[in-house]
Amino acid sequence: MTPRVRVSAPAKVNLFLGVGPVRPDGYHPLATVYQAVGLRDELTVEPVEDGAEDVPAPLVLSGTVDTSGVPTGAGNLALRAVELLATHHRRALPVAIDLAKHIPVAGGLAGGSADAAAALVAVDLLFDLRTSRPTLLELAGRLGSDVPFCVLGGTAAGSGRGELVAPVRTVGEFWWVVVPDAAGLSTPAVYAEFDRLNADLRVPEPEVPADLLTALATGHAPLLGASLRNDLQPAAVSLRPDLRQVLEAGLVGADGVPGALGAIVSGSGPTTVHLAADESHGTRLARHLHDVLGPRDAPPPFLVCSPAPGAREMEALVPDPDRWSR
Ligand code: C5P
Repeated sequence: MTPRVRVSAPAKVNLFLGVGPVRPDGYHPLATVYQAVGLRDELTVEPVEDGAEDVPAPLVLSGTVDTSGVPTGAGNLALRAVELLATHHRRALPVAIDLAKHIPVAGGLAGGSADAAAALVAVDLLFDLRTSRPTLLELAGRLGSDVPFCVLGGTAAGSGRGELVAPVRTVGEFWWVVVPDAAGLSTPAVYAEFDRLNADLRVPEPEVPADLLTALATGHAPLLGASLRNDLQPAAVSLRPDLRQVLEAGLVGADGVPGALGAIVSGSGPTTVHLAADESHGTRLARHLHDVLGPRDAPPPFLVCSPAPGAREMEALVPDPDRWSR
């Protein structure tokens, strides 16, 4: 019987994203607080015939979002994760990957990073590699700044270029209306715009504010809403001025629908997230945003809960012999 491992790959939002002056290596020092949300891709790995180890592992995409921008070859971060793990363990890890994508692509929700984290966890389990947690996080950091957090999940502070993560204590749950966009934004382009906007300014070293940590430690949604901050937001809005209207619409609300407790661009955008007081408020706010934004060339706003777990194994699967012969 062929074993198979399925791992969840959660999306993240940055509740706080403080960005410092560009470093000599081109990255920016960050002080950030990540939180995983209840929206995930699902990645399934299955071993394939050995001997094919020097060709990229095959990757089959499915899901509910537009995946036209997702590479299925060597440029895919999940495949690079498998390669990196193989190099680390000095052995071939020939697998087929089935990736069901539900996280908007290039949306600022770390979808690609989540897939890479899930691939590390899944292949480690499939081949019983028992890679230590610190090593897995170190390998994750080489794949991308957000990948270690996607392994960890929950809520975490991120420093360095975002790859150094430490769990943050949180109480309760938070409800978010996520407003996806039809187009993606390139993360390097948003950081470049950040540099351009700050060219004549002294950018201070960022620091996570105490209020935000208090809000998380006490489960205080209004305080969290007031503490949300994303230093990349002006850059994302500069590239996409229409995002201002989406943020405003969430904050203002309507008759009978109070505005969000806070609203920010997620990561480098263009997805925006709007913090609701609770689930019922979130449901009404999502409907309101759907109505007020009118017909758009994008998936409708939807509600998610946070925090959510990191990349971890989902239910054990009964092998399906037809699965890889499609
Ligand atoms: O680490 P990752 O590959 O996700 O980063 C993508 C790009 O985002 C980098 O090439 C860089 O342009 C930018 N970036 C940055 N500072 C960070 C993280 C990312 O400038 N801390």
